[in-house]
Amino acid sequence: MQPVLEVSIYTLLRMAFIWQLISAAIYLVGLLTIGVFLYDNLKSLVSIIKAVLEPYFQPHLPKTLVEKFGQWAVVTGATDGIGKEYARELARQGINLVLISRTKEKLIAVTNEIESQYKVKTKWIAVDFCRGREVYDQIEKELAGIDVGILVNNVGMMYDHPESLDLVSEDLLWNLLTVNMGSVTMLTRKILPQMIGRRKGAIVNLGSSSELQPLPNMTVYAASKKFVTYFSKALELEVAEHNIHVQLVMPNFVVTKMNAYADRVMQGGLFFPNAYTFARSAVFTLGKTSETNGFWTHGIQYAFMKLAPLPIRTFLGHQLFKRLRIEALEQKQKKLKLT
Ligand SMILES: NC(=O)c1ccc[n+]([C@@H]2O[C@H](COP(=O)([O-])OP(=O)(O)OC[C@H]3O[C@@H](n4cnc5c(N)ncnc54)[C@H](OP(=O)(O)O)[C@@H]3O)[C@@H](O)[C@H]2O)c1
Repeated sequence: MQPVLEVSIYTLLRMAFIWQLISAAIYLVGLLTIGVFLYDNLKSLVSIIKAVLEPYFQPHLPKTLVEKFGQWAVVTGATDGIGKEYARELARQGINLVLISRTKEKLIAVTNEIESQYKVKTKWIAVDFCRGREVYDQIEKELAGIDVGILVNNVGMMYDHPESLDLVSEDLLWNLLTVNMGSVTMLTRKILPQMIGRRKGAIVNLGSSSELQPLPNMTVYAASKKFVTYFSKALELEVAEHNIHVQLVMPNFVVTKMNAYADRVMQGGLFFPNAYTFARSAVFTLGKTSETNGFWTHGIQYAFMKLAPLPIRTFLGHQLFKRLRIEALEQKQKKLKLT
């Protein structure tokens, strides 16, 4: 009986040792995961706090956006929603504006409103970004002589409501690809050389938190916003040596006409800020962090969404937009009946 007992003790010890090793490995993986999660979600907040405190310790550093980047900003899609409020907030901070959008009458109204409210210079350029390549030479000519300190690539399009690819018109798909990806790329390409020449400038790209996973029923929109994410993150490193700041802004739902298909978004709320509240908060982060959701509740939503594995996020996203599609179609039916 004795030798059998000795063997079992050794076996037990070996098992205990292996268990210790497995526990240590799980512990380490857990620690690493928590570390990565905290780094990923708090890096933006930490850099904002650092940027807010910095001037107290280093008073010689530039403080205002004008000092940091220059006197002029270009904002695309500036006649409505987030772009319009970005423009107003930049003007409030003393920055001259070039507003680029589609509708001339709306551009005139917005520039007049901004000029009368704030003491800044404005200029507008009416172009339809759906026209693709030809509009960029026109914009370049109209920007001649203007030192662009901040470029806000805001213009973007979505479907009328969530829909499966086979039911979205080909024209809309071409327009969406051209506007959402083409404008960010080509306008940045046109303006970047002058910023590099002055070793000063900021490029703000409006992506979307929809880029976090594939989004069935919003397939092309979400994919186009993933493009904006990768474009921005790569460019950020490419131009850092020239002292150019690239910022990626990834909002969740904001109350704008883009979401007119969804009554529950348009009602607003803590998680659905209006464009004014969103833009005030997002512009506050400009020059302080290179990546943001723009608004604090969107940051919390994004952090929690990231906890779920990609297939689960994709599944949940699919369910949400399937539901929103049905609601949007019902909403349309109701409106048709009323007319
Ligand atoms: N709203 C959200 O929930 C949300 C969430 C995440 C990301 N985003 C992103 O934020 C950005 C702004 O969205 P938003 O909701 O503020 O949009 P919006 O309310 O629909 O406003 C879009 C603006 O872009 C202009 N525009 C649209 N198509 C154009 C074209 N082909 N050529 C020139 N100008 C054009 C519009 O001009 P007109 O006034 O003439 O139509 C308008 O000024 C977009 O990139 C969007 O993807 C929005």
